[in-house]
Amino acid sequence: MRTFTTILCASGMLLAAGEAAAQAHQPPKIEADGYVWEHTDNPYSGNADAIAEGQRVYRSTCYICHADTGSRGPNLRKSKLKGQAFLKIVINGRKGTQMPAWKGKLTEDEMWKVYSFLEAPPPQ
Ligand code: HEC
Repeated sequence: MRTFTTILCASGMLLAAGEAAAQAHQPPKIEADGYVWEHTDNPYSGNADAIAEGQRVYRSTCYICHADTGSRGPNLRKSKLKGQAFLKIVINGRKGTQMPAWKGKLTEDEMWKVYSFLEAPPPQ
């Protein structure tokens, strides 16, 4: 019985390793402007540490215009933009508006953390 479990576990580990390798071989998604994505979707959804870090970044970089429920810029918790569509605006800004580009100022990781913060229930 013990041997059986060991074999099962070992094959499970092999499977997991195989999946990780398959993911690593996926070509990175590249935008027309040459931007190479690190993540195709939010890697931090529901991650409490990332949400806390996202809140910190939001306070210091976005709050001045977006506040808690919108001010100069809209309420980002109500944005219809999801995932990469949301981040694209953060990366490139929106030309002709006051929304600045954050590429080179924030890492993609930090942007996903801000996104996670905005996705999570608002702090009371
Ligand atoms: C200097 C002011 C300013 C700052 C700072 C700012 N924004 Fe904005 N943002 C705006 C304005 C104004 C708009 C609305 C642009 C428009 O008219 O389409 C906007 C729009 C957006 C949108 C598009 C929302 C939608 O649904 O169309 C996103 C996403 C966004 N901001 C994210 C952020 C994030 C994240 C930060 C912090 C890293 C940030 N913004 C910092 C002014 C700002």
